Amino acid sequence: MENNDLNIKMVDICKYFPGVKALDHVDFELKKGEVHALLGENGAGKSTLCKIIAGAQPMTSGEYYLFGEKVTGLTPNAAKEKGISMIYQEFNLVPYLKVYENLFLGKEITAGPNLNKKEMIAKTIEIFERFQIKIDPEARVCDLPNAYKQLVEIAKAVLENAQVLCMDEPTAPLSNREVEILFSLIQSLKNEGVSIIYISHRMEEIFEVADRITVMRDGKYICTMDADKTNRKELISLIVGRDLTEEYPKRESVPGEEILRVEHLSTDLTKIHDVSFSLHKGEILGFAGLVGAGRTEVMRALFGADRKTAGEIYLYGKRIEIHKPENAIEQRISLIPEDRKGQGVSLTLSIRENISLVKLKGKEICSFMGINRKKERNLADEYIKALNIKAPSMEQLASNLSGGNQQKVAIAKWLAVDADILILDEPTRGIDVGAKYEIYLLMNELIKAGKSIIMISSEMPELIGMSDRILVMQQGRLVGEISGDEVSQEKILEMASCG
Ligand SMILES: Nc1ncnc2c1ncn2[C@@H]1O[C@H](COP(=O)(O)OP(=O)(O)OP(=O)(O)O)[C@@H](O)[C@H]1O
Ligand SMILES: [Mg+2]
Repeated sequence: MENNDLNIKMVDICKYFPGVKALDHVDFELKKGEVHALLGENGAGKSTLCKIIAGAQPMTSGEYYLFGEKVTGLTPNAAKEKGISMIYQEFNLVPYLKVYENLFLGKEITAGPNLNKKEMIAKTIEIFERFQIKIDPEARVCDLPNAYKQLVEIAKAVLENAQVLCMDEPTAPLSNREVEILFSLIQSLKNEGVSIIYISHRMEEIFEVADRITVMRDGKYICTMDADKTNRKELISLIVGRDLTEEYPKRESVPGEEILRVEHLSTDLTKIHDVSFSLHKGEILGFAGLVGAGRTEVMRALFGADRKTAGEIYLYGKRIEIHKPENAIEQRISLIPEDRKGQGVSLTLSIRENISLVKLKGKEICSFMGINRKKERNLADEYIKALNIKAPSMEQLASNLSGGNQQKVAIAKWLAVDADILILDEPTRGIDVGAKYEIYLLMNELIKAGKSIIMISSEMPELIGMSDRILVMQQGRLVGEISGDEVSQEKILEMASCG
C-alpha cells in the first residue's frame, strides 16, 4: 500500500460470532488528521470494527494495514505501541487513584527505587495546559465529573502518543456544555495530526465534528461521504435503510387532570432543594438541565431510591408515602434508571430473563406452579419486536449484545411493568435514530392509554419534540417552566446555565 496519507486501511473485513455476522466484508479507510464518524444502527458493527482496529478482538478474515504495513495477530498492547488508543464508553480509569496516577499507570516515572511523583505531576499539568483544561492532577478520578473523566482518558491516550484515537460514544454521558470542551480538545488533536474515529448516535454532533462519515448497516459497509456533502435527512435514511418522514411522531391527545404532585422535595447534602411540580394524566413532562443539575436525584427521591429530608408526594390529591422503590411500584410508578449498565441489565442473564425480571417480582408471570414460561416468552417476544432488539434469539446473553441493544433490553424490562406513571431517565441514550423513533411511538401509545410520563433528557431536540411542558433545573433547584411557543433550545440553555 503506497498511499501514505492513510493511517488505516481495512479491506474485506469479516467478523463472525456464533449466529451473528458482526462484520460482513467491510472496507474502511482512515486518513491522517481526520475525524471520521462511524454511523449505524445498534448492532451494525461499529464497536466491533473499532475493537479489531485496536487489537481487542481478532478478525475472522480480511486485511488490515496500519501506517502502510500489513498487520496480523494484533494484541491490545501491540496496537497501543503502534499508536492506537481506544476510548471505550465505559470508563477504564481506576476511580480511587488520582488523576496523575491514572495517567502514568503501568509506565510510572521513577527516580531510583522510588516513584518520581513530582515529575509525573509536572507532566500531567503540562499536558492539560496544552489543551487548555484545568484539572487538579491530585484529584481522585471518582470525584471528577464525567466530562473530566473523559478528558483524562484522552490525555492518557495523548501521553501514549496516540496517532489514532477511537472514541466509542464519548458524549453519551455528557451534556451540551461538556460536549463543547470535548470538541475543542478533538480540534487540537486534529491540528496535531491525530486521526479520530468517532462513534455517536447524536446526529447533531456529527456535522459539528466529523470530516468524513462512514455508514454501516447489519454488519455491512454502506458508504463513505464528506460530511459537508450530505445532510441529516440523507444520513438518517442511509442509517435506517428507509425514509423517516418525521423524527418526533405527533400526539393528538391533550393532558387531563393532575395525577401526581410533588411538594418541597429536598434530599441530603442539598443535592436537591425545595422542588415542587405536578404531572397530569396523559402528559409528557420534560426535565431539562445540565449534567449534575439534580434531575436524576429528584426522580430517585420521588421513587424512593434515595432518602428525602423533606417533601410530600400526592397521588390523585391523596398524600402517599414512598420510602423505598417497592412503595413506588405498589403505587404504579416505575423508573427506568439512567445508569443502565449498573441498575438496568443483568449481563449474565438472557434477553428473555432480563425483560421479565421486574414483572416477575410483580408475580404476574408467576403462579403457584412457578414461572409461566409461555407468558414470559410472549412478553420477551413482544418487546424484542417493538424495540427491534437485534440478537440471534431471546436466549442470547445480554453481555453479548451491542451497547445500544443492551439499553433496549433495560428499557423493555421496565416498560413491561404495567405502571401509570413512568419516569424515563435518558431513555434514548446510546440508541440509534430508528429505534429512538420506535421508543417515541411507544411513549405516545402509553400516553394514549392514559398513562403519564416524566422524561429526563440531555438531548434538547428530543425534549422539545416530545414534551408537553419542560421544567428546567439548575444546581438542585427548579428554575423555570416552559411550554408551547416559548420553547426553544436557546431559552432552555439560558435558564439551565448558572446565572
Ligand atoms: N461477544 C459477542 N458475542 C456474540 N455476539 C456479539 C459479541 N459482540 C458483539 N456481538 C454482536 O455483533 C453485532 C455487532 O455489535 P457491535 O457491538 O459492533 O454493534 P454497534 O454497531 O457498536 O452497536 P451499538 O450502537 O448498539 O453500540 C451485534 O449483533 C452484537 O450482538
Ligand atoms: Mg457499540
